[in-house]
Amino acid sequence: MTTLTIRKPDDWHVHLRDGAMLQAVARHTADHFARAIIMPNLVPPVVTRADAAAYRKRIMAALPAGSDFQPLMTLYLTEETDAADLVGAFEAGEITAVKLYPAGATTNSQSGVRNIENVYPVLERMAKAGVPLCVHGEVTDASIDIFDREAVFIDRVLDPMRRAVPGLRVVMEHVTTKDGVDYALSQAENLGATITTHHLIINRNAILAGGIRPHYYCLPVAKRELHRQALRKAATSGDRRFFLGTDSAPHIDPLKECACGCAGIFSSINTMGCLAHVFEEEGALDRLEAFVSLNGPAFYSLPANEVRVTLKKHEEPQKFPARIDTGEGAVTVFDPMFPIHWNLASEAG
Ligand code: DOR
Ligand code: ZN
Repeated sequence: MTTLTIRKPDDWHVHLRDGAMLQAVARHTADHFARAIIMPNLVPPVVTRADAAAYRKRIMAALPAGSDFQPLMTLYLTEETDAADLVGAFEAGEITAVKLYPAGATTNSQSGVRNIENVYPVLERMAKAGVPLCVHGEVTDASIDIFDREAVFIDRVLDPMRRAVPGLRVVMEHVTTKDGVDYALSQAENLGATITTHHLIINRNAILAGGIRPHYYCLPVAKRELHRQALRKAATSGDRRFFLGTDSAPHIDPLKECACGCAGIFSSINTMGCLAHVFEEEGALDRLEAFVSLNGPAFYSLPANEVRVTLKKHEEPQKFPARIDTGEGAVTVFDPMFPIHWNLASEAG
């Protein structure tokens, strides 16, 4: 049996939702990760310091007894965001980052930002205080092809914004293109990029070839194979700019399996096994720790976790449920379309 012991991983982008869904999914993130950046796109969104504190309490209450999982809270940036409230929350350690959703880009993004220039004054305050901005990088212009929305966002929004507010620390969330990877690599400082597990595994054929498969639909949508290869190269390179953000985003099956299904892939249960498989395939198991446990904390100026965990490769494929039950209904688990032989075994102290 092959084993790999690494520092406990963190997830730098996850959706835990609220209510019955939160109760069902929180423990799966807490089982595998020491910390996670919690997305604020609830209905209504988490926009104020008080909202974040209240949401954090609900997350803590949903964790299994004795869990030492740490949720790292975020605020949802709107054109009405109060910079003093935001900076106060950051300085008190109540939030770790702020999330930019272009209005209309994805699930519950209606309250997001319509014109980026309207939030430049808040971004200036964030840059001064050192608050990182996590960015959903897609334009929402209906005339732009959905497969091009990330690349166009970099040119039209991200790069001008970073030039207008130098010093702002930015995370390109869930990059899905070679364009995104190349942009991150061209920047010397103040820029990180998360990559999801599923974008390392699927390309757009998974969604569309041989029938439409809604459980592989997420945003940004998976692109063609050359982009997946660029993401694999970036994630397995060990480069400090790239780190894991699973974007595990549960939706109940009826909301995925319908004429206008929701975007989101639920992967928190088998992410670590999938990643070990991918890194082994790329001959890069020795760089898995950088991607899941070291580069993220370094970007966020946090210590890496001291606890170690061991990944084990078993002879037999490991069993993961095809779906989990939640108080709201069933949620399908990400199927990587290969048998997963790896799992996260034990904490080594
Ligand atoms: O696939 C996605 N699901 N992408 C997002 O940006 C949002 C997320 C969600 O909240 O469901
Ligand atoms: Zn997300």
